[in-house]
Amino acid sequence: MGHKLIDAFNREIEYVRLSVTDRCDLRCTYCLPPDHHDFIEPEDWLTFDEIERVIRAFTELGVYRVRLTGGEPLTRHHLPDLAARLSALPHLEDLSLSTNGVQLRKQAGALRKAGVKRINVSLDSLQAARFAAITGGGKLNKVLDGLAAANEAGLHPVKINMVVMNGVNDDEIEDMVRYCIDRDFTLRLIETMPMGDTGRSASSHYLDLEVVRSRLEERFDLVPAVMPGGRSRHPASRDTGTSMYGGGPARYVQVAGTSLRIGFITPISRHFCESCNRVRLSADGALYLCLGQDDKVELRPLLREGISDDGLKEAIRAAIARKPEKHEFREQPQKIVRFMSRTGG
Ligand code: 5AD
Ligand code: SF4
Repeated sequence: MGHKLIDAFNREIEYVRLSVTDRCDLRCTYCLPPDHHDFIEPEDWLTFDEIERVIRAFTELGVYRVRLTGGEPLTRHHLPDLAARLSALPHLEDLSLSTNGVQLRKQAGALRKAGVKRINVSLDSLQAARFAAITGGGKLNKVLDGLAAANEAGLHPVKINMVVMNGVNDDEIEDMVRYCIDRDFTLRLIETMPMGDTGRSASSHYLDLEVVRSRLEERFDLVPAVMPGGRSRHPASRDTGTSMYGGGPARYVQVAGTSLRIGFITPISRHFCESCNRVRLSADGALYLCLGQDDKVELRPLLREGISDDGLKEAIRAAIARKPEKHEFREQPQKIVRFMSRTGG
């Protein structure tokens, strides 16, 4: 068996986003409805043994990066134990985490010890009342304290993910830039995606990040940045391991005279599907092949029916061969009914 996963559009799949739960201790307006109860049942969650088996198979097929996501991954009990098991896999080079930061103060040290090296934290506002309104009652102080804990624990880089919403928080981008300069965080600005009813209604606040970039250029001197990242994704990064993309879809600039990098994630205004390098595994073991499509392959039944390791790898290969060419957020904004919390962005 070969050691690379290549899809039908000649994209190399090197990255798995692993959702360990679809539950969350926040209710961001663009993600989860306030009264949502239709969560995956615990008996359907992949166990840590099952997750380790699937990720091992992926790494033997060429995947070398895994990100723990949710919902909110820190609400899954004993997450550091899972992180330790994954980071011990011989072919896994990069284990990261996306979190809302609420429980980071408690868990940052254990996660770092377990081999998580870098984290992304969602933070859409630095104003307590506004933060509470966007997140369904979240406490800003807890997240800020969690970020401090991440720094103390040596998690690096820390990237702040800000979903930019016109008329909601776009007046805070400059504050966020200064906040990140002061703390040596990386800032990533994200366009609102029409995922689920929540994402669609938030999309009425959609703002093209090109507009944001022009606004920022009036205030700051932005220069193209090189971001350490993926090994092979973008032709420019194949030799050096660096590019303005950093192994993901964000295009980076640097604020001149500072070490701050700002990434623009523009799924709507500027498609990056042609260089997509990832698939997503949900907490119940469905392999989602594209964030913006419904195509998926259920791995849980195979695991529970006792499939062999080779059979599992064959199922993964067959799934990757079915990865769609692109999302259709613009052409078919009504299409995706699942909430972002199911596949973790
Ligand atoms: N559009 C864009 N980003 C979203 N996220 C959640 N829902 C949406 C959406 N509709 C982001 C969060 C977080 C990650 C889990 O996904 O901000 O960074
Ligand atoms: Fe929770 Fe993240 Fe969804 Fe907010 S965006 S409700 S923090 S999963």
